[in-house]
Amino acid sequence: MVTCLATLLLSILTLTLAWWGWVVRRAQLQRDLPPGPKPLPLLGNLLQLPSGRLDRALMELSGRWGPVFTVWLGPRPAVVLCGYKALREALVLQADAFSGRGAMAVFERFTHGNGIVFSNGPRWRTLRNFALGVLKELGVGTRTIEDRILEEAACLLDEFQATMGAPFDPRQLLDNAVSNVICSVVFGKRYNYGDPEFLRLLDLFSDNFRIMSSRWGETYNMFPSFMDWIPGPHHRIFKNFQELRLFISEQIQWHRQSRQAGQPRDFIDRFLDQMAKEQQDLESHFQDETLVMTTHNLFFGGTETTSTTLRYGLLIMLKYPEVAAKVQEELDATVGRTRAPTLEDRARLPYTNAVLHEIQRFVSVLPLGLPRAVTRDTHLRDHFLHKGTFVIPLLVSAHRDPTQFKDPDQFNPTNFLDAQGQFQNNDAFMPFAPGKRMCLGAGLARSEIFLFLTAILQKFCLLPVGSPANINLTPQCTGLGNMPLAFQLRLEAR
Ligand code: HEM
Repeated sequence: MVTCLATLLLSILTLTLAWWGWVVRRAQLQRDLPPGPKPLPLLGNLLQLPSGRLDRALMELSGRWGPVFTVWLGPRPAVVLCGYKALREALVLQADAFSGRGAMAVFERFTHGNGIVFSNGPRWRTLRNFALGVLKELGVGTRTIEDRILEEAACLLDEFQATMGAPFDPRQLLDNAVSNVICSVVFGKRYNYGDPEFLRLLDLFSDNFRIMSSRWGETYNMFPSFMDWIPGPHHRIFKNFQELRLFISEQIQWHRQSRQAGQPRDFIDRFLDQMAKEQQDLESHFQDETLVMTTHNLFFGGTETTSTTLRYGLLIMLKYPEVAAKVQEELDATVGRTRAPTLEDRARLPYTNAVLHEIQRFVSVLPLGLPRAVTRDTHLRDHFLHKGTFVIPLLVSAHRDPTQFKDPDQFNPTNFLDAQGQFQNNDAFMPFAPGKRMCLGAGLARSEIFLFLTAILQKFCLLPVGSPANINLTPQCTGLGNMPLAFQLRLEAR
């Protein structure tokens, strides 16, 4: 009896001390955070972050609190980096300290911190290096992948041709084409555009991207436990993830049965080879679940962002037909109309290159980037950031920074041209984020954007359905991603 009582008292004492330690540490963390608007208990700064335009609201708050400030997303503080200079000082000049990934509840429930995108520490380093090496082996960054994209562009043009003159929404065809490029790298095959299984997968991707980018997704990230009990479309995210997991697992199973060890056909085979090599190593990062998550990262990461950029690009060309006409003029003069443009032509197409950069700047497809986390205690400007601090790299703020781009809210390709009309890069251009966590598919995405868009413009005149004056370039919703409102266009042969 006495022993029981002593054990109980000791447990209560230990819990009280642990709780007190947590309270003191939390108070210290909060005291050290950069300044920001005063949060309400539990809600944080929710009321200062109006629905739908989180990126704009954060930029406005930065006007009052400066380029490095704290905002409370519900009960969780986030340090926001706003403007080119602050982003560079953190992500480039302190690349190591800012190379951690901050957790996002919508992904956490599915990934549990596994895969490349949402892992940290040695697991992330191993998987990232492995994926970079394998993508290179499989031809990414070489003529091999360029030829693959060109083949896919030819298929896309055939599908576009079939719509000639009739209004159509290009979303699905662009999704098909872009996804097929990454499918050939990861799964070793492409799908026909009408394949019902493929169309279902693409629907799952775009449905998830849309819900995650809506108020539902934003709110889920702030109050996951509460939102688990509230009915709404956010529950579909997890159902969709489950369906994607099933598809990926089936692909992996097929690869296991049909592969020849040491003769990899694609990313999955290479991963299985590595798993076999490290079979005896209990600490190995090459496990079944990691393969599922990494495959999902490449498949999802490689589809939605690139396809949304292309779709937005077409909408911008409809709004500014004079820009499209100038690109076509340059393509005619440099490439002609008898062969498709290749990556080698890019350097000889300064105006086209500037337009493609300006599309990515203007669109800022991931306006808040993906969250980072500080990997060790560090200083940024006058602020002390504790290890683990959740950081929002507000990429769109570099793209809208008036010290870096003239009239940043306008679409203007001269942002990337010098006085002689030659292409001129700008360090504030960061759609893929700079630093150690920079997008792993940046090179592939840039090749796809160039080859697909130039192929379309070389072959077709794009015509709006309705007046160009009514074309609305405002994104449909922001949070995770910027995407255009659904639209239709018509094509005419050139
Ligand atoms: C226009 C197209 C794309 C854009 C705008 C884009 C943008 C981004 C951004 C902003 C990040 C976060 C980087 C960071 O936290 O610093 C990211 C990460 C990532 N992206 Fe992309 N991406 C695109 C295409 C692709 C493609 C085609 C792939 C597939 C090969 C891909 C795979 C990844 C992966 C695996 C990561 C995680 C990197 C890491 O955490 O180490 N992305 N991307």
